[in-house]
Amino acid sequence: MKLVSLLGSPRANGNSATIVKRIAETAVKLGAETVTYELNRLSYQGCQGCYACKKGLEECVLQDELTEVLAAVREADCVVLASGVYFGEITSQLKEGFDHLAANAAGSAGLRATVPRVI
Ligand SMILES: Cc1cc2nc3c(=O)[nH]c(=O)nc-3n(C[C@H](O)[C@H](O)[C@H](O)COP(=O)(O)O)c2cc1C
Repeated sequence: MKLVSLLGSPRANGNSATIVKRIAETAVKLGAETVTYELNRLSYQGCQGCYACKKGLEECVLQDELTEVLAAVREADCVVLASGVYFGEITSQLKEGFDHLAANAAGSAGLRATVPRVI
């Protein structure tokens, strides 16, 4: 079992980080491999809407620090998306990452983690 967590909050010790840490610790105890990406520490562009990932391209045309994250998500059995609420929405960090996930990771390569759960 591979669990990938995307921390969308910029606060490294905030509520989202605390929850992600607890989930990862519990998953490790249950035998899972876990990795957590702090999106705020990574440099990446928002989705360019080129639709290349819908035309058979396995990887996003943008090669940046999100490339490794997308690859990890594609291999994951479980993906945790964590964010505080900013004006009724997810943080901008997670939104930019999520657009890539929805477009590229769920594209031709497919996702292993397919059943969404909101905590
Ligand atoms: C720019 C900004 C906008 C926020 N907007 C909301 C909001 O609309 N509703 C809410 O309940 N809390 C709002 N909050 C509070 C955060 O959701 C809260 O501090 C949360 O714990 C942040 O998540 P974190 O601890 O994982 O960083 C906002 C905080 C910031 C900095």
